[in-house]
Order: sequence, then structure tokens, then C-alpha cells
Amino acid sequence: MKFFVDTAEVDEIRALTALGLVDGVTTNPSLIAQSGRDMSETIKEICGLVDGPVSAEVTATEHEQMMAEAAKLRAIADNVTIKVPLTEAGIQTCKALSDDGASVNVTLCFSAAQAILAAKAGAAFISPFVGRLDDLGQDGMTLIEDICDIYSNYDFKTEVLVASVRSPLHVVDAARMGAHVATLPPKVLGQMFKHPLTDKGLQAFLDDWKKTGQSII
Ligand code: G3P
Repeated sequence: MKFFVDTAEVDEIRALTALGLVDGVTTNPSLIAQSGRDMSETIKEICGLVDGPVSAEVTATEHEQMMAEAAKLRAIADNVTIKVPLTEAGIQTCKALSDDGASVNVTLCFSAAQAILAAKAGAAFISPFVGRLDDLGQDGMTLIEDICDIYSNYDFKTEVLVASVRSPLHVVDAARMGAHVATLPPKVLGQMFKHPLTDKGLQAFLDDWKKTGQSII
């Protein structure tokens, strides 16, 4: 399972890459807005920090303009993945870009029917938003299960990228279902490390070690 981080904060990404667990990055217009920085500069910096795919999202809503924005974003770095929304224009753009050899992430997916369209359009990634479905009282992870099942019936190359992740439980469920990628807010990645018994056990080991008066180096 690959881990992407869902942030446009360059300093956070730099710190997380040091862990050796970051396989890629996803951004969206809201995350760029939160960073308060220029989009092209930010994406360029992130692409220099991470070898894997870095999703940069178009903001046009019509196909021709999406293609023009995608051309600009693709020119930033070789590891830019173009993110398009799951609309008719987005799917048309996904097909055209994928046919041209670009990596495309189709975002704002909330149904299995939408995920089938993205796969047929040659998307490298489909991004179903689990947390936003949970917020409405629908089970987001059921959608992941459905998409993984459907894709496994065919020769689709599209990877299931679990997005809108809100807790470590989403990640564990996604892994159980065989989702290819989870994009994690840095907070959730941090939460995955935590267990009170780890802290308690480590403290006991350190206390006992101190009593021995020894030192390894
Ligand atoms: O990058 C898209 C996605 O992960 C958004 O998450 O928390 O805004 O629903 P959220």
C-alpha cells in the first residue's frame, strides 16, 4: 500500500519525507489556498522533495481550458499528476491526457458508477472521498470496497486512492480492502504511530536500562 500525504505545506512534506514513508503528495485548490502560496512555485518545490506522483488540480471547468491548465502544470515537473474533477469535462480531459501519456488523478468521486467512468477514461488514480461520505451518514469505506471489487473484475490499471481520510481506522480498512493508495493528512499519519502501550513499554525499558548503569556506545 502506498502512502501519499494530503497537504500543500512544503515544510510538513519535507519533515515527513525524512521518515521514508511518503510515496507521493496530493494537493487541491483548498490546500493551496490554505498554504497562502503561489501554486506553481509550491508544486515545483514539492516535486523536488518527492520522487513519486504529486497531484496538482486544474481549476477550469471546461475541457479546452482544463487542457491548457494541464499543459502548464505538466511543464512544472515530470512527476506532476494532473487532478481533474469527476465531471463530463473532467473525464474528457482525463481521456485526452491519459492517451497523451500523462498521469491523471480523477477527484471528487462519490459513487462506484463515477469510478467506472474514470477507469474507462484511463485514469492513473481514482480518488473516492470517504470522510465526506461519512459526514453525510453514508459509509465511505463501503464505496472503497465496491470500487476495489469492480476494478478487480477487469483489466483496469487505475489505482484506488483513498482520499478525505480522517483517522487511522480509514487507513486500516483501506489496507484490508486492498486499496492501492491512501492520501493522509499529516495529522493522521502521526496518529498511526501512537499507542499508549508503546509509550508505557518504552518508558519501562528505559527506566530498567538506566538501573543497569550500562551504555551501548
Ligand atoms: O485531496 C482531497 C481530499 O483528501 C480532501 O479531504 O478532508 O477536505 O474531505 P477533506
